[in-house]
Amino acid sequence: MTRPPGGVLAAIGDTPLVELTRIFPGSTFRTFAKLEAHNPGGSVKDRSALGMLLERIRTGDLVPGKSVVVESSSGNLGIGLAQACQYYELRFVCVVDPRTNPQNIAVMRALGAEVEVVTEPDPVTGEFLPARIDRVRELVRTIPLAYCPDQYGNPLNALAHRHTMREIVEQLAGRLDYLFCATSTCGTLRGCAEYAREIGLPVRIVAVDAIGSVIFDQPPGARLLPGHGASVRPALMRPGLADEVVHVGDLDCLVGCRRLARREAILAGGSSGAVLSALDTVRGRIPAGSVCAVILPDRGERYLDTIYSDAWATEHFGAVSHLWKDPVTEAPRC
Ligand SMILES: Cc1ncc(COP(=O)(O)O)c(C=O)c1O
Repeated sequence: MTRPPGGVLAAIGDTPLVELTRIFPGSTFRTFAKLEAHNPGGSVKDRSALGMLLERIRTGDLVPGKSVVVESSSGNLGIGLAQACQYYELRFVCVVDPRTNPQNIAVMRALGAEVEVVTEPDPVTGEFLPARIDRVRELVRTIPLAYCPDQYGNPLNALAHRHTMREIVEQLAGRLDYLFCATSTCGTLRGCAEYAREIGLPVRIVAVDAIGSVIFDQPPGARLLPGHGASVRPALMRPGLADEVVHVGDLDCLVGCRRLARREAILAGGSSGAVLSALDTVRGRIPAGSVCAVILPDRGERYLDTIYSDAWATEHFGAVSHLWKDPVTEAPRC
């Protein structure tokens, strides 16, 4: 019998849910935000990392001090795995690509991970993700006692997020009409949706994907921001998990993040901006008195050189700061 996670891992989950009262002025519904940045590794993926390791430790497939965990991740899962592997004294090799945020790599290394950078994209698709997955397969074949959690296909990833939804339902005392959830592996979406359906909660689930992501059969395309979206359809995906899908572009993510920081004083990552932008898109259809929850997957510090950099914003989108500045309180003074 494996003991429940101790130490820092005991701090994973039970994240706060706070009401957003300023970002949608004049709205007739209430919006609550699940702050997944409060997990100790800084994101929702701490839950996935722990969930995918703990069960394998329990069954004896993963042996602390002997087994090696190998995974492809460009950020949050890698950090969550580095944290959990360090705690359980498991060697962890994380395969990343040149677009991985150097700060994420530094965090993983500080937590004891070995980070390997794949330098060439997949020759057929031009994407790095398939190249990273190929390298992970090779490492798993060649390293004794290696285990790849495979976040895109591992049901334990989705299972971990049943708790995310359970917590939201409990925090709102069962009163929830809409859930907005960013998608990449579909672990969060699937765990939340399956839990909600199982308890018979009549919640409308809105999946939030990136324009250019192929999860919901849209054409592939270039994306600037990491986090949500995927260039390969995840094996965890099931039809019917979401009642509706909203695709969000990079500029709208940025605007969502900047408004969240300005109006609610919450510094969050790109996919958080995406879920708020998605809510804004459908808000005209949300009946008065509804209760909405948005899952904000990670914190904004890792995006200071992109989303929160005025120079980066101008380079990619031009003069756009008027999109998040309040026209009354932030008008230039003469
Ligand atoms: C910042 C961020 N947002 C959203 C997601 C999507 O979550 P999921 O993989 O559960 O679909 C991820 C996944 O890595 C993420 O890192």
